[in-house]
Amino acid sequence: SHVDPFDLVIFGGTGDLAVRKLLPALFHRYADGQILPGSRLIGVARDPLSEGDYRERVREAVLKAVGEKEAAPSLAGFLELVSYHALDARKDPGWSEFAAAMQPSPERVCVFYLATSPEIFVAICERLREHELNHGKVRVVVEKPIGRDLQSAAAINDAVGRCFAEQQTFRIDHYLGKETVQNLVALRFGNALFEPLWNAGHIDHVQITVAETIGVEWRAAFYDGAGALRDMVQNHLLQLLCLVAMEPPASLAPDAIRDEKLKVLRALKPIDESNAAQCSVRGQYRAGASNGGAVPGYLEEIERPQSRTETFVALKAELRNWRWAGVPFYLRTGKRLPERVSEIVIAFRAIPHSIFGEQAGPISANKLVLRLQPDEGVKLWLMNKYPGPGGLRLRRVALDMSFAEAFGVRNPDAYERLLMDVVRGNPTLFMRRDEVEAAWAWADPILKAWEASHEAPKAYTAGTWGPSAAVALIERDGRTWHEDAP
Ligand code: BG6
Repeated sequence: SHVDPFDLVIFGGTGDLAVRKLLPALFHRYADGQILPGSRLIGVARDPLSEGDYRERVREAVLKAVGEKEAAPSLAGFLELVSYHALDARKDPGWSEFAAAMQPSPERVCVFYLATSPEIFVAICERLREHELNHGKVRVVVEKPIGRDLQSAAAINDAVGRCFAEQQTFRIDHYLGKETVQNLVALRFGNALFEPLWNAGHIDHVQITVAETIGVEWRAAFYDGAGALRDMVQNHLLQLLCLVAMEPPASLAPDAIRDEKLKVLRALKPIDESNAAQCSVRGQYRAGASNGGAVPGYLEEIERPQSRTETFVALKAELRNWRWAGVPFYLRTGKRLPERVSEIVIAFRAIPHSIFGEQAGPISANKLVLRLQPDEGVKLWLMNKYPGPGGLRLRRVALDMSFAEAFGVRNPDAYERLLMDVVRGNPTLFMRRDEVEAAWAWADPILKAWEASHEAPKAYTAGTWGPSAAVALIERDGRTWHEDAP
């Protein structure tokens, strides 16, 4: 269903996120008839571009993301919604004209999307307030990273909070917009089957893997100041953990879900100097092979040979509550790993007693594997009888559901859903201030423990599954990282 015409201003309108993700996502929503003519999509950046120049960039970006054939019928109409303002958040010129052009009206939704580098989030918010662009149906979208530790995150939240009310503030974590991540909620609470087993009584452990094949690419300056824990774990992986571990919310009301996620974050057992050596591994890739070609190591890529920034993290997280006591959540994420795959593995407990003899072969415990990307789907690994008269031999086989086959529809990009949620004013899939800060409160001591240790991150060869210590982290507990092969 469509939404009433609205205004969306993208600060950082010429940046990578805008061009690669936001504008193509908006295009899809327009092509599906959800965004109506009369809406305005306004790019803002410092570059002195004309409207024509900017539209040309947007045209190219959409063609690249969507393809000529699919884009053709709607592209001209979409570009008519697009305009551009050259503006510097740190300088006065242009702001009065911009404010006048916005013509704020109390009935019309207006979204300000901060897709800039985080250093200027606050400056932009303050300008918007100065020019009284913070009233009415105005919403502000704050991209990650929100800070680099608890203190800086709180400072950003305070500063944004002086300009916009919490209900106006949408902190985005694009993982929450992924179809398969939302399916986690559908699977858990749309089926009676799983929830009775969803606890320490029946689940042995959980694994969350977000693996990428790419390196740091053009983001060396940002990435080297962040590292995998800040870039991926503090937000995306913890959000996934929350959705797996939270208590059933009473409804999908925004605060119902967010309250439950917050409780999970607050139940995380601290990892600090006392246990970081047992519970955390950080790695940094060396030259190797990826996607079929030779690739340089991290240090060569960023041209800073002394960097200790981690490009890989593995953690053993634990929750101190009744449901999950004693159930480890093994998390791992990294760049330059062998494949791009994100999945959540729920590993159930082993059978309590086997009635089968040795000839039946080993009996693996059941696993529920949620494949978030690519090849989105759900697999449930079960033991079955291997066909034939040769006695009862067991073999593990998966009930295998592929989203593409089951539904046969295009999987929309996370930003499509999230952008329209902002326009509709639904914050369910956005992070509340207290969530972001609780996640930092857990991440901070890990970062401090690493800083305090004299060890550098452990080396791994690009194209492998991280340092061997990440394997040891889980094998020490008598478990292994899940592999899909039967
Ligand atoms: C971003 C990180 O938030 O997520 C990137 O900053 C990472 O480093 C990206 O590559 C991964 O997102 P996706 O949707 O490709 O899994």
